[in-house]
Amino acid sequence: MKNTFKAVPVTEDVWWVGAIDWNIRDFHGYQTRRGSTYNAYLILTDTVTLIDTVKAPFREEMMARIASVIDPGKIDYIVSNHSEMDHSGSLPEVIAAVNPKKVFASAVGAKTLKELFSIDREITAVKDGETLSLGNRTLTFLETRMLHWPDSMFSYLNEEELLFSQDAFGMHYASLERFADESDPAILAYEAATYYANIILPYSPLVLKLIERVTAAGLSFRTIAPDHGPIWRKETGGIIGNYAKWAAQKPEAKAVVVYATMWHSTEMMARAISEGLAAGGLHVKLMSMDEVHRSDVVYELLGAGALAVGSPTLNNHLLPNMADILTYLTGLKPRNLIGAAFGSSSAPLSAPTAGAGRR
Ligand SMILES: [Fe+2]
Ligand SMILES: [Fe+2]
Repeated sequence: MKNTFKAVPVTEDVWWVGAIDWNIRDFHGYQTRRGSTYNAYLILTDTVTLIDTVKAPFREEMMARIASVIDPGKIDYIVSNHSEMDHSGSLPEVIAAVNPKKVFASAVGAKTLKELFSIDREITAVKDGETLSLGNRTLTFLETRMLHWPDSMFSYLNEEELLFSQDAFGMHYASLERFADESDPAILAYEAATYYANIILPYSPLVLKLIERVTAAGLSFRTIAPDHGPIWRKETGGIIGNYAKWAAQKPEAKAVVVYATMWHSTEMMARAISEGLAAGGLHVKLMSMDEVHRSDVVYELLGAGALAVGSPTLNNHLLPNMADILTYLTGLKPRNLIGAAFGSSSAPLSAPTAGAGRR
C-alpha cells in the first residue's frame, strides 16, 4: 500500500513527524475523549536532529513520516526531552534502525531511559542552559524537573525562537490540523484546560517559577511545539498566559458540588446546597459521580473557589465512586478551595452530616 503518512512543515527547517492516536480514551485515569497525538519533530539542518519519538505501537507511522522528507539513516542526533513511554516507547528501535551519532537527554532522563529500556549505547546527559550546535542552528536545553517527571526538559531552537516543550502546553486532541490557528478555538480552550487540570495542576508552583524564569531571561517564543496536540505558532502568548492563570489558582465565584447517591437523599441535599450557593451569587456546577468522569470534575475545579462533596454511608464508609474522585483530587492537589462535606445515612431524608473548611 502507498505510504500516506507525510511529514508536516512547521518552519523552514522543522517538520512534524509524529503520530495520531485517534482511539485512545484513557491516559492513566484521565478520559481522553478526543484521542491524542504523539508529536515528534525533525530538524533538517546541517546536523539532522530528531526531537522525541512516539509511543511504541506508532513507530512505523513516525518512520514513514520521516522517510517522506529524508532517509531516516541520515538522522545524526536524537534528543529525548521526556522519557515517559508515550515519547520514548519507540526510542530503542529507532536508535537501532537509525544508528544516530549521539542521543541526548537530561541527566535524570539518561538514567531513566537506561532503567526503562535495554539501550546498548551511551546517552549523553545535557545540563540546564547547555547549548548544542547543529551546524547552522543551535539548541539550548532548559531543565524543567518535575514538569511533569523528574527527567523533563525543554529544547529551544535559538535562531527560530521555537520551543520544543514536551508535555507542557499540550493537549490530548487527535486531529489532522497540526496548528492551533487551524483548529476550533472552543475545542482548544477546553482540551488545553482539561489537560492542565488533569496533568500539570499539582506542579503549579513550578509552572509559575518557570514562567518567571523564562520572562526574566527575555526568551521569546515564535512557535511552541508540544508533544501532544496542535502546535502554537501565530500566537504563543495566549497559552502561556493561560498557564500563568491556571497555575495561580485564584479562586473565582464558582462552586463545584460533587456527589454520589444511593436512594436520592444525598442528591436532594446536593440540589438544595447548589440552589443555595447560586442564590448567594455563585456560579454552580453540580456533578453526579454516577454520570460524570473524574477528569470533568477537575476541569470544573480550575478557577473554582469552593468544592462540596457528598456521599451516603455504605458499610460505614463512603460510596466507591466518591472515594475515586477524592483519591484523584488528593494527588492533583487543587489549592485555594473552600471545602465542604455532606451526606446522609440510615433512612432517606435523615438528618444530614456536614462540615466545612478551607484547605
Ligand atoms: Fe508525560
Ligand atoms: Fe506525554
